[in-house]
Amino acid sequence: KRPAGAPDRSLARDVGKVGVVGAGLMASQLALLFARRLEVPVVITDLDQERVDKGLAYVQAEIAKSVAKGRLTELKAAKLRTLVTGTVDKAAGFADADFVIEAVFEELGVKKKVWAEIEEIVSPETILATNTSSLSVSAMGADLKHPERLVGFHFFNPVAVMPLLEIIRAEHTNDVTLATAFALGKQLKKSCVLVKDAPAFVFNRILTRFFGEIYNAIDLGTPLEVANTALDPLGLPMRPLELLQLVGPAVAAHVGKTMHVAYPERFKVSPSMEKIVAAGQPLLVDDEINPAVVELLAGGQT
Ligand code: 3HC
Repeated sequence: KRPAGAPDRSLARDVGKVGVVGAGLMASQLALLFARRLEVPVVITDLDQERVDKGLAYVQAEIAKSVAKGRLTELKAAKLRTLVTGTVDKAAGFADADFVIEAVFEELGVKKKVWAEIEEIVSPETILATNTSSLSVSAMGADLKHPERLVGFHFFNPVAVMPLLEIIRAEHTNDVTLATAFALGKQLKKSCVLVKDAPAFVFNRILTRFFGEIYNAIDLGTPLEVANTALDPLGLPMRPLELLQLVGPAVAAHVGKTMHVAYPERFKVSPSMEKIVAAGQPLLVDDEINPAVVELLAGGQT
């Protein structure tokens, strides 16, 4: 059955090569997913070779884990290892890509700059996708020469196992682009939903409210340990601070601020959140709350 809002599948373009802008955790997970499910070459790029190498090392380590767990045969792993490559030279890496997805720093200006650069390299037919967590896809495409080929393609961490894929039709996105996005989502074995190009789409609106209320409890003096364990009886797959650690406090704060700007009365910026992000400390160490974070929050309380 065609997902609600998906155009006719016959409009979808074939994707024979994928480019991934960024080599951070999300980008590396995406590179692996695309190579594994589409069985096509995937090229990752970043600002310097060190970051590219780190991304490639992540991919290789995940392939090794899958082999060790018996999820992947040696033969398939060997093929997969050759499919994912990396370079700092976007022009060389992306010239013949049919689909380019970005997972770079969550700031509109940074993402617009990336697309301006990529548009000079790729063909006007190449589909461009953003994994933005909360930014307006229409605003991101506003200065593109061919905004009709930009679409939002929002994955969830850990990418290998989370089934949801939010697909965002921006103002200019055309049916070919959208049909290709849905066809790709299906090949990637994700559950695709078409969501409105509104701040934080759907899932991250809820997540921002969730983190916002946890932070608010902490702001009001609830100890971190209590904020972390109070929901245990609900049987959620992760405790709040574990989930926050997985998403990354800085990423969650970016989404929170987008929501605050869009809806200042409904979404407040938490002082605890600001302190945690500024300190850059891990929230959990060996599954226990990091004492440095407890101290940091206690030190700042009046
Ligand atoms: N990479 C690859 N595979 C992973 C993984 C990872 N990082 N983490 C877990 N897995 C795999 C495990 O290997 C395991 O596979 P197997 O059964 O074949 O061995 C399977 O997932 C289940 O893992 P576990 O048994 O270790 O643990 P759980 O049963 O607790 O499941 C979980 C792990 C699926 C991650 C679960 O804890 C969960 O659903 N957590 C919530 C995650 C979530 O809400 N993510 C959304 C974050 S928001 C976001 O990303 C949006 C952004 O814009 C901010």
